[in-house]
This record gives sequence, C-alpha cells and structure tokens, in this order.
Amino acid sequence: MSEAPDELQLRVVTDKTELCRIMLASWGSQRMMIDLHVYDVAEIDALGLFDNAGKTAALASWTIRGDSAYLCALHSLKPGEGIATRMLDAVVFGARKAGAKRLKAMLTNDNMPGMTFYQRYGFRLSGLYLEAIDAYRSVEPDIIKTGYKDIPIHDAIELEIVL
Ligand SMILES: CC(C)(COP(=O)(O)OP(=O)(O)OC[C@H]1O[C@@H](n2cnc3c(N)ncnc32)[C@H](O)[C@@H]1OP(=O)(O)O)[C@@H](O)C(=O)NCCC(=O)NCCS
Repeated sequence: MSEAPDELQLRVVTDKTELCRIMLASWGSQRMMIDLHVYDVAEIDALGLFDNAGKTAALASWTIRGDSAYLCALHSLKPGEGIATRMLDAVVFGARKAGAKRLKAMLTNDNMPGMTFYQRYGFRLSGLYLEAIDAYRSVEPDIIKTGYKDIPIHDAIELEIVL
C-alpha cells in the first residue's frame, strides 16, 4: 500500500463547511444513510489530515451508536498517496478508544475504488440493500444518479471491520 507523507497533521474538524461542500458536490447531500439510519455530517464527529500549508488532504466523518462505529464519509483530496488509509487509521483508533466493537461503512453499488479500498484495508461485506438509494432519493431528491464510470446508483453495500 502507498505510504502517506509524514508531514500531514491530524486534527479534529469543528468547522464542517468544507466537508459539507464536498459531500454536496460528490453525493448531492450532507446526509448519509448507514444501517438504515440517517446521519448528518454537520452534526457528528469529523477528523481531517492537513498539510503544512493548512490545505486539506483528507476528511472523515464518523459517529458511534450502540457498540458500533459508523464511518459516514471518507474523502481523500490527494488520491493514490496512502492518505485515505492514514485517515481511516485515525478513525479506527478513535472508535476503538471510544469502545466500539466494529466499524461500519456504506458504499453505493458503483463505487469500485471504495470496494477495493475498504476490502484491502480488511473490511468484509456485511449487507446488501437493493434499491436502498432509489428509495432514499424520495427524501433526498438531489442524491447523484450516476457515479463511478457513469454507473447508475441504486443499491447500498455495507462493509464492516471488527475493532
Ligand atoms: C476511495 C478513496 C477514499 C481512496 O483514497 P486514496 O487516498 O486514494 O486511498 P489510498 O491511497 O490510501 O489507497 C489505499 C488502497 O485503496 C485502493 N484504491 C484506492 N483508490 C483506488 C482506485 N481508484 N481504484 C482501485 N483501488 C483503489 C488501493 O488498493 C490502494 O492501495 P494500493 O495503491 O497499495 O493498491 C478516494 O478515492 C476517495 O476519496 N473517493 C471518493 C469518496 C469515496 O468514495 N469514499 C469512500 C466511501 S465513503
């Protein structure tokens, strides 16, 4: 796996403006549905990796419910440099420290890079919700209709890793 540059700094993100902007541009909403529960990234914890100039390299949004942690967004702004892996390491560390037994993530059916990324990290598939995104679009009409390689988005795939 590629190594992230050492000079990146990990920080808790309190101003969620950039995260919400990225979510709106890439997903069409700042809310994400995982495990049939909707989370607003403006309202839950966020972490970021920043370079020496303060520029964002990655952002992650996560929370805990019961004994599970939920990764609601993970965005790398410098793909292919191991940065998302390092961002995920930080979420895993925080979730373990908070007592979570597992970390769950959701991908839409088009997201082949995400499927590789999470499984390469050690996540296993844990659920398939056919047409869940189609149904969710009735409450969030702006959710994108096509994704990676213009593949139509219909279904939700959940993955999890034991912590
Ligand atoms: C998926 C994503 C988070 C990967 O970020 P990244 O910083 O490039 O990831 P890393 O450099 O840490 O890559 C780790 C591994 O993931 C896999 N991977 C990453 N990008 C990939 C791609 N485009 N295609 C296939 N595999 C990919 C590779 O196996 C890689 O390791 P390797 O290069 O040693 O094989 C990034 O592309 C992204 O932000 N996508 C948009 C948001 C998203 O879909 N997030 C996930 C769902 S919330």
